[in-house]
This record gives sequence, structure tokens and C-alpha cells, in this order.
Amino acid sequence: MKTKAVILAAGQGTRMRSSLPKVLHKVAGKPFVRFAVEAVNFTGETPVVVIGHGGQAVREELGEEVQFAVQSEQLGTAHAVQMAEEILIGQSDLVLITSADMPLMRSETLQAMVAAQEKNSGPITMLTVVSDNPRGFGRIIRGDDGDVLAIVEEAQATEAQLSIKELNVGAYCIRADWLWRALTKIKLSPKGEYYVTDLVEIAVSDEQKVQAMIVEDQAEVIGINTRVHLSEAEALFKKRINEKWMLAGVTIINPGATYIEESVQIGQDSILYPGTFLRGETIIGEGCEIGPNAIIESTQIGDNCIVLESVLEYAVLEDDVTMGPFGHLRKGAHLAKGVHLGNFGEVKNSYIGQNSKMGHFSYIGNAEIGENVNIGAGTITCNYDGQDKHLTKIGSNVFLGSDTMLVAPVELGEGARTGAGAVVTHDVAKNELVIGVPAKPFEKKGKSE
Ligand code: UD1
Ligand code: CA
Repeated sequence: MKTKAVILAAGQGTRMRSSLPKVLHKVAGKPFVRFAVEAVNFTGETPVVVIGHGGQAVREELGEEVQFAVQSEQLGTAHAVQMAEEILIGQSDLVLITSADMPLMRSETLQAMVAAQEKNSGPITMLTVVSDNPRGFGRIIRGDDGDVLAIVEEAQATEAQLSIKELNVGAYCIRADWLWRALTKIKLSPKGEYYVTDLVEIAVSDEQKVQAMIVEDQAEVIGINTRVHLSEAEALFKKRINEKWMLAGVTIINPGATYIEESVQIGQDSILYPGTFLRGETIIGEGCEIGPNAIIESTQIGDNCIVLESVLEYAVLEDDVTMGPFGHLRKGAHLAKGVHLGNFGEVKNSYIGQNSKMGHFSYIGNAEIGENVNIGAGTITCNYDGQDKHLTKIGSNVFLGSDTMLVAPVELGEGARTGAGAVVTHDVAKNELVIGVPAKPFEKKGKSE
């Protein structure tokens, strides 16, 4: 059966106390509306996201991936679903309704609900959870035979109903033709909203069976209304992601202090020490040691690398690179196989060739460096003249003395050498030694004249 999804995301999210729309707050590095969109991908159909508060920002975040329906006044969840009717009517056999504020909801769970509804003679299959913590969720009223009769919102529940432990998750799969008619029958609640949960009673009064599927993993149904919930979701997500990598062969010394975003990849037998943050499109190879205290954003790391106490952003490390402590790789830094970067090194937009070493206190920017180069302590590429950035080219087997200043644009031929404190303002020939300020070719005493 063809299923189209509606994701409700128009609510204001007042309890977040934020200028950012609720669903754009991030969990595991990703705005949580994205999780909702990904969770319905299995339908193979473009979902409809109902937006209202902060709708423009949500549009910008999701772009062309979804269709949008606008609910300009937040008159409740049923009203929100109605806003999608124009786009959806006649488009599918089933409508899957979920809300954008449940980032931990698994795609598999929604898929199982849809599969259950495909076999259901009645119009609705919904998700419930059994929990001691009601979290303000609607309570599920079942008849003596176990059939679902109604959902009662917490605000309207009697004392006896409040003690019911089966709760409404807020995800439903509904027969499309039935849905659009039933929505028009929903009456305004005492709180002035149209509740989608009233569909259950409408079905029951039509003598139609409502089917409920109990979600086993309570983590999945955590809806985020406050920043306290946000931190709970973050912790559960972290646990889910960390466990996935541990089961895949990654050692995580202290999972509570290790933060891996969903998009990250890690190879077998790598070890993550506490204080490691792996973000964005980061890929780590096998047998690496990362951290303690490493912040790595969208960086590719090969096999058997060591990254100790460093910050890496949009960089590439080939195999066997060692770096840190206190290294900083910025955008475009590329360290070839076997490169060693010691403490207080910064590299930006530069290639450093195989087995080159940069042990202490250096800045390399806009440079192309060959193999087996020794970058002496305190070496700086003076790449910026106040207006433009300039290139420094260093051939293989070059030896840069401590505190060499390379005033770009400048090129050093293979095997060239600089003396300590040299300020290199002109190109240096192959195998030539330059010294001084500004650096000049070194001539042995007695040889001149
Ligand atoms: C809803 C359910 C409740 C369930 C709970 C689970 C109703 C009436 N109640 O309550 O039974 O236990 O979810 O989390 O449905 N939204 C709109 N437009 C609106 C109102 C809400 O788009 O006019 C969106 C919100 O952005 C949110 C979702 O619908 O994504 C749920 O709304 P919310 O106000 O959070 O409902 P709850 O009070 O949590
Ligand atoms: Ca909610």
C-alpha cells in the first residue's frame, strides 16, 4: 500500500524558551526535525512537514527534501494534519502521522506500525508505550476486551485515568479516505484545540477497531518539550551511537565522555579516549588512538594514526600520522603518510608530504611541502601580506632551522637548508643553505673572493 507521511512541526515549543524553533534544536549534532524526516524515508514518498512557528527557518533547513504545509494558527494536532490534506488527498492509501519532536523514534518501529495497519480491518494503528513516567502524555483507555477505546489528554483526565500507565506516543497510521472525513468530525477541546487523538473515539463510535502497538524501548518515544528533555535525548542518543561503535569493534574507554555524531564512521580496533568529540563527516580508519580531548570535525583519518589532545577541522590525515598534544588542523590541512606533528602546531590549507616532521610551535598556511622535510621549532609561513594569501613551496628533504620565517610567495628547492632564525624572502635553490635576515646563501670563510 502507498503510504505518505505527515510530520507535525508547527508548534511553538514555548517550553524550550528559545528564539530558535524547537525542531531546529540539535541532538547528536543534527536538528531533530531531520531525524523525523529520515525515520519516514522507508515510505519511499516525499513527506509533508507541517510548519508554523519559525516555519521559514525549518524550510531553509529541509529545502527540497520535503513538501511543506503551513499551519498559520496553532489550533491543535488535528488541525495541523488537516493543513496537509490539500497536498495529500487522493495521493496514498495510508497516512503516517508523526511529530517532529521525537528524534529517537526508530524507522523500524514506524515501519512495523505501517505493516500492522496494512493488515488491519479498522482505520487506525497507533503506537503506545507503557511507562511509570507519564511525561504529560495522553492516557490510553482500553475496554474490558483490551480494545482501545480512547486517548485522554492529561489535562482532561480523571484521577483514575491519570494512573493509567499506557501512554500515547503520538504516531499513527491511518487509512487515508477515512482520515480526511473523520478529521471534520473533531470538536474543539476545552483548551481550544482540535486534538488528533479524538480520532480514536470517532473510530470506536463508528464501531471500527483501533489497533495499538506497544513500543518496547522507552527511549524511542521521548518527546522533547524542554531543554531537560533535550539533554535526556542527547544522552540516550549518545548511548545508542556509542554502543553501535563498540559492538562494531571500537574501544571507547569512557562512553559517558565520548561524543560521536550520527554521520561519523570509525574503523575496527580504534580506541577513543575520554573527551573525544567526533563531528560531521569525520571518518576514522582502523587501529587509531584518538584523544583524550580531541575535537574532530569532518576530518578523514587513515589507519594507525594517533591524535592526542588536538582540534582538527576539515582536514585529511593519511595512515600512520601522529599528532598532538595541542595541534590544530584547519580547513584544507592534508598530512601525508607518516607525518608527525608535535605540540603547538597549526596547519591550514597546506599539504605536508610523507614522513615530514614538525615537532614544535609552528604555523604552516598555504604551503606545499615535500617528503622528509624537517620543519624546525617555531617555523612560520608568513602567508598573508595584509591583503592576499601567498604560497610557500618546499621541496623534499628540506631542513628548516628553528625559527625560520618563510615570507611567501617563496620556494625552497629540494634539499635546501635554512639556518636558525632565517627570514627567507627570496627563493632558495636546490641543496642551498641560507642564513640570516633577510636570508642569504651561506658562503664558507676563505672561499669568498
Ligand atoms: C501530543 C498528544 C498526546 C501524546 C503526545 C506525545 C495530542 C492532542 N496529544 O501531546 O496524546 O501523548 O503528543 O508526545 O495530539 N503541533 C502542530 N500544530 C499544533 C499543535 C501541535 O504542528 O497546532 C505539533 C507540534 O509541533 C508537535 C506535535 O504536533 O510536533 C505534538 O504537539 P504537542 O503540542 O507537543 O502535543 P503534546 O501536548 O505533546
Ligand atoms: Ca510534545
